Amino acid sequence: MSDKSSNQMWGGRFAAGPDAIMEAINASIGFDKRLAAQDIAGSRAHAAMLAATGIISDSDAETIREGLLTVLSEIEEGRFTFSTALEDIHMNVEARLKEIVGEPAGRLHTARSRNDQVATDFKLWVRDQFDAFESGLLALIRALVDQADAGAEWVMPGFTHLQTAQPVTWGHHMMAYVEMFARDLSRVRDARKRMNECPLGSAALAGTGFAIDRHMTAEALGFDRPTANSLDAVSDRDFALEFLSTASISAMHLSRFAEELVIWSSAQFRFVALSDRFSTGSSIMPQKKNPDAAELIRAKIGRIFGANVALMTVMKGLPLAYSKDMQEDKEQVFDAADNLMLALAAMEGMVKDMSANVENLEAAASAGFSTATDLADWLVRETGLPFREAHHVTGSLVAMAEGKGCDLPDLSLSEMQSVSSAITEGIYDVLGVHNSVASRLSHGGTAPARVREQVARWKEILA
Ligand code: ARG
Repeated sequence: MSDKSSNQMWGGRFAAGPDAIMEAINASIGFDKRLAAQDIAGSRAHAAMLAATGIISDSDAETIREGLLTVLSEIEEGRFTFSTALEDIHMNVEARLKEIVGEPAGRLHTARSRNDQVATDFKLWVRDQFDAFESGLLALIRALVDQADAGAEWVMPGFTHLQTAQPVTWGHHMMAYVEMFARDLSRVRDARKRMNECPLGSAALAGTGFAIDRHMTAEALGFDRPTANSLDAVSDRDFALEFLSTASISAMHLSRFAEELVIWSSAQFRFVALSDRFSTGSSIMPQKKNPDAAELIRAKIGRIFGANVALMTVMKGLPLAYSKDMQEDKEQVFDAADNLMLALAAMEGMVKDMSANVENLEAAASAGFSTATDLADWLVRETGLPFREAHHVTGSLVAMAEGKGCDLPDLSLSEMQSVSSAITEGIYDVLGVHNSVASRLSHGGTAPARVREQVARWKEILA
């Protein structure tokens, strides 16, 4: 058909075809071709149901279902010509089906609309993305647990305000991210469960007068049940928004870790070496090894959260039921999903490959009077000093060490006693970084013993 004629799918009341600009703004085929497999799966389920309920004949349904498989293989093999005049994937598939099987193709659109069709296709697509998201998170969590297992006892500086605060263990730091990604995982599973209701059969907005079996199509497409309200079903994009919001939170977590890896791999820190496989060189500075993957992961939150805001803004204030505004949902989700999966995979690869510089970590952990809190705690425990006073005494000792240009354990006993006569030799036991971390045995604390418990718990969960 020529682009000048009215649309073959809905052109009955139209004398003329659309303006070229109208066609350009209206068409979604440029991007919704990504829904081809879902569209065909939905149509095959719909045709089988129409036959089972006696709405179309078994032989028409068989012809349609076979023909749709032919269309699918044409698309998969790149032999399909997509037409902008046919607007979207739904009409492109149906028009081609008509060319292949003829008259029965015209019966496929009985008791449905593109409104429930697109909601179903898109849900199927987003559901796959939730599954990929879940696998990506699990793989990353596994890599982090392995790092924690290897370095349950390695000591490193813990920071607040990016200033050295107290020594922590490498394993504890890795397991902190395991907790974050595990919450992401739980959000993903929760959202995936909530979205798994089938819109198909809601038709344009009001349901249909045909005696369809929505439970049959829901089951055939792997949904838990059909949606309960047809107006809601064709207007709902919560599932896409939940994908984008869970993706945003996860991308935010990824960006924090990515930022740490950028800092840790710098020449000033040298806490970790990233592998060659996840670094790049500079075209002008031969010595450079840049953490590009980490930087890009750090940046991905921009477009992913941008997609979340964009779709939220598209949906805001839309009256029920379907409005064409909602066609703007797909590109945002496609882009966010592609980039999220890439970021998860790149982070997993980096974590698997990276090697901690255990000596540098320990040296940095000892710097900056990182065991001052341990000293104050010792004064409270061993001499009965109130914590506020112990804090003061410790502050004086830190000032003394700073003045001498040495670390706390380098102060002599008599120097210490000049500040507080209650101090004894035993104080040196808590000043080393290993003593410090080993003592932090409180539930959720950084002690290697606690980290090993968490690693064991996670290994069991992951097994
Ligand atoms: N291409 C459309 C979309 O993605 C399909 C639904 C069109 N429905 C309609 N009544 N025009 O939203």
